Amino acid sequence: MRVWNRYGYGGIICIFPPSNYNKEVKRVISTLILGIMIFNNNSFSQEKIPLPQPSKKGKQSFEEVINIRKSIRDYSQEALTKAELSNLLWAAYGKNSYRKTVPSAGALYPIVIYLIAGKVKDLSQGVYRYDADRHCLIKNSDKDVREDLTRAALSQDCIKEAPVIIAICARYEITASKYGERGTRYVHIETGHVAQNIYLQAVNLRLGTVAVGAFYDEQVKKILDIEEEPLLLMPVGKPYS
Ligand SMILES: Cc1cc2nc3c(=O)[nH]c(=O)nc-3n(C[C@H](O)[C@H](O)[C@H](O)COP(=O)(O)O)c2cc1C
Repeated sequence: MRVWNRYGYGGIICIFPPSNYNKEVKRVISTLILGIMIFNNNSFSQEKIPLPQPSKKGKQSFEEVINIRKSIRDYSQEALTKAELSNLLWAAYGKNSYRKTVPSAGALYPIVIYLIAGKVKDLSQGVYRYDADRHCLIKNSDKDVREDLTRAALSQDCIKEAPVIIAICARYEITASKYGERGTRYVHIETGHVAQNIYLQAVNLRLGTVAVGAFYDEQVKKILDIEEEPLLLMPVGKPYS
């Protein structure tokens, strides 16, 4: 029997015991098989890529960073490093000394961050989900979807030219479960917090980014193969100097 989840197939052969086994033996064996299936499905089908610890010391003062923040849409073709990615993703939605780097209504954290990696040193191209608890990336697919995403984003070239794109997505139902319709407003506000952290961390790392909100939602969902709602795409790269 093969078990499918959104991260892939976890395959094991499930052979039920012959009918002359007594009921208790059957129950124990079935439980064991189920346990193996769950373990197999969760542990082996998802490629987890650990990220280096993010640096907590900035190169510039906070005021200097805010003062020079701006949207940057032209990037060099230089690859990003895992250290840079680590700092960007941590700033976006990582764990800090208290909870997370961004506030969240009811501490419900409805945001899901995806990374579209095109050119990163020692990281293969593909779509990854950021797991903030473990500060690692979980591979969703190994396709370079930057061209497809560019088309879905009204042919904005900054998407295909960037070595990476951070997609800020959300599960509205998490916040709606407590706040009802008002949850939608809260999710959008939280997206802004995440985006600003990415902007500021990009400045700190001498990188450039822009918040891209103009895209076809359904196309982006299909390209990334995700269930969450995409709210902003943030291409990141070294600015042309
Ligand atoms: C919600 C939102 C959506 C945006 N969408 C786009 C976009 O699709 N394409 C783009 O080039 N810039 C986009 N921007 C960036 C704005 O154009 C930019 O912030 C504005 O021109 C001010 O420039 P600055 O960020 O350099 O201060 C967006 C910004 C926000 C906040």
